[in-house]
Amino acid sequence: MTCLYRCGNACFHPVPNESDNSYFADEVSRRDVFRAGALGAIAIGVGGAIASSTPASAAEQTGSAVIPEAYAATGGGNGKLTFSPIPPNTLDTVVVPNGYDHAVIIKWGDAVEAGAPKFDINRQTAAAQAKQFGYNNDFTAVLPLDRHDRRGLLVCNHEYTDENLMFPGFTKPENLTVEQLRISMAAHGLSVVEIERVGSTGQWRVAGNGRAYNRRITLIGTPFQLTGPAAGSKLLQTAADRTGRKVIGTQNNCSGGVTPWGTVLSGEENFNQYFVGGDGAPESVKAGLKRYGISTDTRYPDGNRRWDRADERFDLARHPHEAHRFGWVVEVDPYDRRSTPRKHTALGRLKHEGANVILTKDGRAAVYTGDDERFEYLYKFVSDKKMIPGQSSYARKHNMTLLESGTLYVATFDFTSAGEIDGSGRLPSDGGFNGTGRWIPLVKDGQSMVPGMTVDEVLVFTRLAGDKVGATKLDRPEDVEPNPVTGKVYAALTNNTDRGKAGKAAADEVNPRNLNKHGHILEITADGGDHGRDTFTWTLPIVCGDPKDPGTYFAGFDKTKVSPISCPDNVAFDRYGNLWIATDGNALGSNDGLFAVPLSGPDRGHLRQFLTVPHAAETCGPFISADNRTVFTAVQHPGEDNGASVEKPLSTWPDGDLGKPAIICTWRLDGREVGA
Ligand code: FEO
Ligand code: CA
Ligand code: CA
Repeated sequence: MTCLYRCGNACFHPVPNESDNSYFADEVSRRDVFRAGALGAIAIGVGGAIASSTPASAAEQTGSAVIPEAYAATGGGNGKLTFSPIPPNTLDTVVVPNGYDHAVIIKWGDAVEAGAPKFDINRQTAAAQAKQFGYNNDFTAVLPLDRHDRRGLLVCNHEYTDENLMFPGFTKPENLTVEQLRISMAAHGLSVVEIERVGSTGQWRVAGNGRAYNRRITLIGTPFQLTGPAAGSKLLQTAADRTGRKVIGTQNNCSGGVTPWGTVLSGEENFNQYFVGGDGAPESVKAGLKRYGISTDTRYPDGNRRWDRADERFDLARHPHEAHRFGWVVEVDPYDRRSTPRKHTALGRLKHEGANVILTKDGRAAVYTGDDERFEYLYKFVSDKKMIPGQSSYARKHNMTLLESGTLYVATFDFTSAGEIDGSGRLPSDGGFNGTGRWIPLVKDGQSMVPGMTVDEVLVFTRLAGDKVGATKLDRPEDVEPNPVTGKVYAALTNNTDRGKAGKAAADEVNPRNLNKHGHILEITADGGDHGRDTFTWTLPIVCGDPKDPGTYFAGFDKTKVSPISCPDNVAFDRYGNLWIATDGNALGSNDGLFAVPLSGPDRGHLRQFLTVPHAAETCGPFISADNRTVFTAVQHPGEDNGASVEKPLSTWPDGDLGKPAIICTWRLDGREVGA
């Protein structure tokens, strides 16, 4: 596995969070204040935000629950998962449980837009790639197109590129031609693809000509509009865009979410690795650049992609604000291929993993988003305006503005001790590793709540704002997603092998292991079940690793019956509120995979492995269809390795020649619901 292309070798660089926000002492003192009344039971109506949706009409989708009332009423469903778990393995294929099958829906290079040429690895062009399915598919969702569960829109992120696996004869990044760099840029972004059900099964495939909806969004060809309080700010103005309101392209789109009003959110994540010339940027922006992992000491940082060779805007010495124009949550309307996607400054600028929406009790949009880097923070945005249910043009137009104004918060967690699971032998079941927490406002009512920072500065340098208010440093907050059945919020904290090292924050109750190799799952319950409130309680239902390791925890479930799991990354929910967890970077020796675990009832914590992906691939998506009959999974970077090449691939999935990123669907052969 290589981290060079994925995140610019982030793990080999010092973490950019060197802030000494002495939050621990603050937290303990706050604890008593927020303890009282923090344990109220949560309740969510079935009309709440549902951030997943397949086959229902667009009209049915918005404002109506896809969860059967019987399940919603019990606040978590029967929680039963009965499939036979698959064993950990290192096979160069997709492995699914007995009684299931899987198929590739679309893969890198397949036609998306009309006029896309047939993919030929020896005759690639940027113009062709801009019409073909991009590289390294990550976030995956399916939005409904009809009332009969037969047609849908597959929306995927293309996070980054592995040039050594894309270009025959690759030697080293600096030898790539300018056209090859432009091909890579065109392979970033998103795809919207019309798909259709195969017969009456749970299998899906690319539909007919898809001309009405199919769309590629790329880094080089798609204009984006900046919205919100920082749009137009000096910090966002460049020579090419004096208005500070229009950006060409999006990049490093990692995970995302589906909004209750039928759009897709996508998080711009590891954008730092694309910029050079930080040493030549004005002193006034250097602290901000550095805090986001952009070197200000050297012109060409290690592992840099040198995209400045193809587009000078990636040279910060010449265009010092260009990096500020990435790191946002973007919103795409997949139902209108001519719509201009937007970057919402109100949600702050960070290395957004994804963004997921649930409604507050009074109908405003609460968006949860994580900043994926070691020792970074968890954020929540709550819109000023309420969502209007329905799909009328009036409602749709209004709802598209929800993410343009609101309150941006960062999370602090309270703990009683710096407890370390494997140091003290104490487990969450022993009464620790849970507590209260508070959302600290950063921007509210159009005003900065951070001393010494303007609204523009808070939104463009949100990490610095989090430092100033003493946000809690977490072990790589990746996907953060509300459970549509219970309203509880789940965050995958992937790992943090720096935790507890000299000079770094040590284990605490919410990050309970030093040198955390395997990660854990955080469960947050909004006080009063209201995502508009600024207080919450939290616990750790899953502490990942080999179940035989005494430092692991599976909500108290019998550990002899659970599957080993390592490095949780993306999460999703099925119609019963079971949690599905995709992994990235399994540190237990198996290929990465997808797992499912009930969160309620006696099976809470009974985690089982549902599938594995091929050699050196990462499991992304995932997305469970609303009828629970299909699991969509993105297989990202099969065969990724510094030493691999087109000529000497490490994986030959899916075609037998060369590892290619692809979206798969998995379904039950007997036609029944998956997992059950
Ligand atoms: Fe792109 Fe945090 O994974
Ligand atoms: Ca991820
Ligand atoms: Ca997710």
